[in-house]
Amino acid sequence: MCGIVAYIGHQEACPIILKGLHRLEYRGYDSAGVALLNGDLNVYKKKGKVAELEAFIAEKDTRAHVGMGHTRWATHGEPNDSNAHPHYSTSERIAIIHNGIIENYAALKQHLQQQGHVFHSDTDTEVFVNLIEEVQKQNNCSLEEAVRLALHEVVGAYAIVVLSRDEPNQLIAARKGSPLVIGVGKDEFFLASDATPIIEYTNEVVYVNDYEIVVIRNGQLEIRTKEDVQQTPYIQKLEMELDSIEKGGYEHFMLKEIFEQPRSILDSMRGRLELEAGHLNMGGIRAYERKFVNADRIIIVACGTSWHAGLVAEYLLEDLARIPVEVEYASEFRYRNPVITERDIVIAISQSGETADTLAAIELAKSKGATIFGICNVVGSSIARATDAGAYTHAGPEIGVASTKAFTAQVTVLTLLAMIVGHKRGSLSDTRLRELMVELSSIPAKVEKALLLNDEIELIAETFKDVPNFLYLGRGYNFPVALEGALKLKEISYIHAEGYPAAEMKHGPIALIDENMPVVVIATKDSSYEKVVSNIQEVKARKGRIIAVVTEGDTVIPAMAEFVIEVPLTSEVLVPLVSVVPLQLLSYHIAVLRGCNVDQPRNLAKSVTVE
Ligand code: F6R
Repeated sequence: MCGIVAYIGHQEACPIILKGLHRLEYRGYDSAGVALLNGDLNVYKKKGKVAELEAFIAEKDTRAHVGMGHTRWATHGEPNDSNAHPHYSTSERIAIIHNGIIENYAALKQHLQQQGHVFHSDTDTEVFVNLIEEVQKQNNCSLEEAVRLALHEVVGAYAIVVLSRDEPNQLIAARKGSPLVIGVGKDEFFLASDATPIIEYTNEVVYVNDYEIVVIRNGQLEIRTKEDVQQTPYIQKLEMELDSIEKGGYEHFMLKEIFEQPRSILDSMRGRLELEAGHLNMGGIRAYERKFVNADRIIIVACGTSWHAGLVAEYLLEDLARIPVEVEYASEFRYRNPVITERDIVIAISQSGETADTLAAIELAKSKGATIFGICNVVGSSIARATDAGAYTHAGPEIGVASTKAFTAQVTVLTLLAMIVGHKRGSLSDTRLRELMVELSSIPAKVEKALLLNDEIELIAETFKDVPNFLYLGRGYNFPVALEGALKLKEISYIHAEGYPAAEMKHGPIALIDENMPVVVIATKDSSYEKVVSNIQEVKARKGRIIAVVTEGDTVIPAMAEFVIEVPLTSEVLVPLVSVVPLQLLSYHIAVLRGCNVDQPRNLAKSVTVE
């Protein structure tokens, strides 16, 4: 949700910033801008994508060794040129970029207007930069001191970078609640919302913590707390590879990420499932094993696709570990008065590790004494750091806004967790555990096989690309898959789609079915297969158009469905890992055929750092 990037060093800043903005564009893409410090402090900004900004500044003098850039996902004020970042202070001597939300901006704005500050945008960010200017004037202090004092007055979340024309060889940044990473090069420094703009220049990074202020001045990096206590920067080595954030010959990141799943599932099992030795390990739960074994209940909090992975985990943990599970939308959970005890375990699932609602749900559960276990994809992210323990999914960077490989990686880790806990609790026998280990090891190859359906699915997409509605039905482990299939379709193709438990259809949605309604039914061979066949009959009797995802060799459903997609047979508890793949491909191809921007769908952003 908004991407920020900044550079200070011996190279030309502008090309580095623009390239970084392209890399961060998945975080927001309704406007973009840069500020360059070279004697003067020049701000260039434009509604639209980074490419439009690039065209806009092509003829301008952009020479500078210090600068910053921003790509925006609008919170306060519609996407237009004046609401785009960076924002100047009234005197145009200071500029800021900001990712986050200032909650008390209205009161601050009123006060600043009374002091003579003039505003040109509807944003909370312009209030922030004027506050810094006002504080500097009142205290006659350095920019660093003004930023520090101003931070005591703002309420909300921020990652900011501030430049001043009066203090030219300097970058100041600060963080609370929104991510910020420093790249440490040789006589140069980078700042960004995540490591993707940094990776090609250096693999040494420092993750900035909440309430820290970063000052980079005359080639020196200094980190101090908001209370002015000096901190020692903790430099870590990045393990990310450059090719993991490039398209690698695919037309879209989403397609690349769908095709990466055999590998990302394998990576998420690596070192955790050792078939030959007959071992399952998960470092993250070792210290909390007793807690898991004795847990009264597990509460899962997440949003969107991660919430769907949580629903799969509900089936897994109840089935394999016999622990009662509740799956909660983090946004609802945080504003209820939920009953949580010290014997509860809360599992927070998040690809980005930055989702504001999930973070708030964690804080609430923590305050009630629950143990918090995180499942995140982004290493060092806020959620990964806020939890007591956890396990990373090793899906690699997910750039496409619609989540695909993160979902299957989350389900993989949750499956391993349920197996380990189930075995420890005695509800999963040695034999059953062994069978599941063998079957889980074969999943990457089965996903590889499901990906061979790509051309076939493209043809199905051709048939349905212009319909206004879709229904997705599934039962048991395939119910969350139906929800996920519907979400994928609506977010990237803008076709209205609903996911339902197949049996629930007759309690309402069946009224929607006529000869124009495509119904995707996930009907793999499992314990509810016969029931799903009956549900298909019900759709067929009302002339609905059936697209069925079935197990290879099924001879019953092909006689009823208009289209059949065959996926390899697997154990019922593992089926989501395979059955979701054709649904990802179907939504991808429909969106491409409709001319939609698959990687950057309208109104969405990759990490939702506002509530
Ligand atoms: C859907 C999607 C979103 C995210 C949701 C949670 O494709 O990407 O629904 O799943 O915003 O994000 P994370 O997992 O980063 O907490």
